Amino acid sequence: MQKIGVIPGDGIGPEVIEQARRVVDVLAEKRKLEFEFEEFPVGAGHYLKTGEVLSEETIHRLSRKDAILLGAMGDPRVAPGILEKGILLRLRFHFDQFVNLRPVKLFEGVPTPLSESSPKIDIQFVRENTEDFYVGLGGRVKEGLSKTELTLLRRTFEAKFDVGIDLKDEEELAFQIGVITRHGARRIMEFAFELAKRKGIGLVTSVDKANVLTDMYGLWREACEEAAQKYKIDKEFQYVDAVALHMVRNPQRFKLVVVPNLFGDILTDLGAALQGGLGIAPSGNINPSGVSMFEPVRGSAPDIAGKGMANPIGAILSCALMVETLGHVEAARDIENAVKAVLKAGRHRTPDLGGKTSTAGMGDAVISQLRMQ
Ligand code: NAD
Ligand code: IPM
Ligand code: MN
Repeated sequence: MQKIGVIPGDGIGPEVIEQARRVVDVLAEKRKLEFEFEEFPVGAGHYLKTGEVLSEETIHRLSRKDAILLGAMGDPRVAPGILEKGILLRLRFHFDQFVNLRPVKLFEGVPTPLSESSPKIDIQFVRENTEDFYVGLGGRVKEGLSKTELTLLRRTFEAKFDVGIDLKDEEELAFQIGVITRHGARRIMEFAFELAKRKGIGLVTSVDKANVLTDMYGLWREACEEAAQKYKIDKEFQYVDAVALHMVRNPQRFKLVVVPNLFGDILTDLGAALQGGLGIAPSGNINPSGVSMFEPVRGSAPDIAGKGMANPIGAILSCALMVETLGHVEAARDIENAVKAVLKAGRHRTPDLGGKTSTAGMGDAVISQLRMQ
């Protein structure tokens, strides 16, 4: 029995998670697996009612699960950042989910904005998930002289930044500090090269902006170099701007991309667009020796919430990643194959893919395919 904590969250989160759970139930029956789900009412609704973002008690209960399944965070009634940082990022950091695995695969029958109708896109994005400009160090200074001490407290180190700013004739200054550690860079490279080895991928593309942000990404490159030598797998360094260009012009050339947190956030939305839109893209926030959390790449899509229009495929494929990470590789392939077959047949498509199928209708289609396989 494996225990899954479910956070349906905001906007379309609950609708797509409902379909994903139905798929997992059918899969469990088919493969004789046992999953026990417990729902956690965390998100905008809970926050607006109680003023509480995420309690220690909830974190503690989640820490006893084998995995977490999350719908989406973010609500127009709540200031940006409160839920995204207070729940999503807090959980990623708390559970030290240092890998954000985002496979970008273009399935047959899915419309892509690229001129070539069906280029072979199959890229494993390995996004670092705990460092870089996401560490939350920053501030704003409005007038005169200011001194601030910023602290970053992590299991392996504590960094204090004494910031002294004299604004003189300047009106206002805002700053944000990025951090990369040797340990942080090393472990994401290890994961990336290990994955390349497991999947028989011969080239790892490492992304950075080492021509401008020389310190952080200098260290990033050294860690990549080290891992490439250890694993005897080829690597290439590419600047993030060039990767954006190549992803549109020639996405086939990428197989596995290892990327720092912020650039990874941006490139994986571009990747989602190439694979048919945000409704399709899955992701896993992974701690290989801890509690991992699975969620679709996109946000809460408040513009279509409650209308039965949301595409649940991203959530369903996130469950495939979850099931695979929990050790059931063949069961994960079952889900992926069912999705693949439904998309290829083309009879069922949600409005984001140009069709009329509802969220539940899409869930039904995947389930009947899964039963037939
Ligand atoms: P979004 O991803 O919610 O929506 C972008 C566009 O994509 C919208 O037009 C939406 O309708 C469409 N879309 C997204 N998912 C879809 C689906 N499954 N089916 C069909 N169409 C879909 O991004 P946004 O509008 O920039 O952000 C909305 C909120 O979500 C904000 O509060 C933001 O901070 C938050 N957010 C959360 C996450 C997360 O929980 N991981 C990720 C990104 C944004
Ligand atoms: C994502 C989202 C999050 C991120 C936000 C909502 C904090 O955009 O999961 O890609 O930036 O990582
Ligand atoms: Mn994002």
